[in-house]
Amino acid sequence: MTPSAGRLYPAAAVETDITTRTQNEAGQTAKAEQPIVAEQPIVKESQAMRKVLRFARRVAESEATTILLEGESGTGKDLVAQLIHHQSRRRAEPFIAINCAAIPETLLESELFGYEKGAFTDARTQKRGVLELAHRGTVLLDEVGELPRVLQTKLLRVLEEQSFRRLGGLQEIQLDLRVVAASNKNLRYAVAAGDFRQDLYFRLNVISITIPALRDRPVDILPLANFFVEHFNRRFNRQLDGISSGAAEVLLAHNWPGNVRELRNAIERAMILEDSRFVTPGSLPPFATTSSEMEGLSAENNGGESCALTPLRESERNLLQQAIERTDGNQTQAAKLLQITRDTMRYKLKKHGLS
Ligand SMILES: Nc1ncnc2c1ncn2[C@@H]1O[C@H](COP(=O)(O)OP(=O)(O)OP(=O)(O)O)[C@@H](O)[C@H]1O
Ligand SMILES: [Mg+2]
Repeated sequence: MTPSAGRLYPAAAVETDITTRTQNEAGQTAKAEQPIVAEQPIVKESQAMRKVLRFARRVAESEATTILLEGESGTGKDLVAQLIHHQSRRRAEPFIAINCAAIPETLLESELFGYEKGAFTDARTQKRGVLELAHRGTVLLDEVGELPRVLQTKLLRVLEEQSFRRLGGLQEIQLDLRVVAASNKNLRYAVAAGDFRQDLYFRLNVISITIPALRDRPVDILPLANFFVEHFNRRFNRQLDGISSGAAEVLLAHNWPGNVRELRNAIERAMILEDSRFVTPGSLPPFATTSSEMEGLSAENNGGESCALTPLRESERNLLQQAIERTDGNQTQAAKLLQITRDTMRYKLKKHGLS
């Protein structure tokens, strides 16, 4: 498996034991550097989200082996998939996520199914695939809509028979596997467009959970924002008290096309920039992400009116300066804060004459 191909998340309760065992069992494929993810808290203030989570818990405890998770990008599908695993009898077994869109088509088949020695020229040893590695546990097939057609057929067979063969193998291997398939586009449309097998869709859709977009559950916006303030307080060693009322208004007025991920990023940025005890509107990003807002802004610019946006170069310089100040000039720490590499940091500092 390429390091980015699959994420192996052993269960929370017995993290260390499971890591060791999974690595031993997984042989050449499981990577020590893969993150161990404990059960994460999920903010759920809205009725809609409570309902989703109640249903997810119930399904988790059931014997249903296939679950379809739909929802726009950033709504929390990964989180809910992890919750399903942690709430199931499979919690002490592996949880492996694989992103069907991120792996080249030619590799995806062997990543999923593994291969026997000699199955093809480079197959010098036998390799187990993600499905086999997750035996008794849960596999998250992320962006399942991107699965190539030939693999859709193979997946359908695995779901129906609960068995598979490694590439080049003759032996039928039995699996006890729960497959959580996630998609950020409506799979029904992919079926209608002929891109996704209808029979596979029906098989996946027996139990489906749709996570509502953040704009459709505005009650969650402020609790999530405060949750992220606390999160980044711990991570950045800050002590902000929360969100100012002005900032709350801005957050509530935005329509969050990037959903919870966008909100998390906005709070992270604000916490890097903020000097007061609260997140204030000034440290929030200039939200102009929907097409109508963008049009509004460009109309404003064309009219020669004052521009609400700071030029990118200036914003970047400010961010760099703030990060350097916050870290007392430690470039490595500052790069971490801005989530860029040290080389990029050095390059940018030089570019802005700050080094
Ligand atoms: N209800 C929630 N409570 C706390 N954090 C959340 C919640 N929903 C989402 N997040 C956080 O928002 C970010 C995006 O969530 P996640 O990765 O689960 O979205 P996704 O639906 O899988 O997105 P994509 O379709 O792009 O894969 C993550 O950092 C996640 O921890
Ligand atoms: Mg995801």
